[in-house]
Amino acid sequence: MRVDAKDMGADLQQVLITKEEIDAKLGELAAKIDAEYAGKDLLIVGVLKGAVMVMADLARALSTPVTMDWMAVSSYGAGTQSSGVVRILKDLDTDIKGRHVLIVEDIIDSGLTLSWLINNLGSREPASLKVCTLLRKPDAAKVAIDVEWAGFDIPNEFVVGYGLDYAEKYRNLPFVGTLAPHVYGG
Ligand code: XMP
Ligand code: MG
Repeated sequence: MRVDAKDMGADLQQVLITKEEIDAKLGELAAKIDAEYAGKDLLIVGVLKGAVMVMADLARALSTPVTMDWMAVSSYGAGTQSSGVVRILKDLDTDIKGRHVLIVEDIIDSGLTLSWLINNLGSREPASLKVCTLLRKPDAAKVAIDVEWAGFDIPNEFVVGYGLDYAEKYRNLPFVGTLAPHVYGG
């Protein structure tokens, strides 16, 4: 495996989705999103920190002029499992009442965080509220969420890269992959 540029090759087990596959998929999603919001004023909301890469690349693939805002949330709970009890670390700078809002996510795992976010933003009376995610783990879903645009369905494994981290590392990998067991202390 060639990831020498970032010197992380030894930590990786497998590349699940290449940079080229991500680029192509974001192009497809952007075309659909452009069609949906033609002539409308669109606000895209990225969920920090994981969605930084998706936001940056999706936004540039869109022809629709957008404004961008960010939210940071944390899911309380033991270990790496999402609890669904969510705390806002950084709220939007924008009043979304009457706006067309698209939430941009890196990954939907249990769906608990996003479900909370949809309720929270929905209560602010946007004109519309939809979701675009790069990744989704169908086998991990604990709540059903209406996702308009999803890039890839992946197995129920912990993944890193392209914004996703393990202990804040690996976010800058240009692809999505799994980590070798020794990284987790295995
Ligand atoms: P839920 O379970 O609420 O996921 O849908 C909430 C957040 O947890 C993070 N997450 C991951 N991060 N690899 C990561 O690096 C993963 O496989 C993974 N699964 C969930 C992510 O921030 C998501 O928004
Ligand atoms: Mg996230």
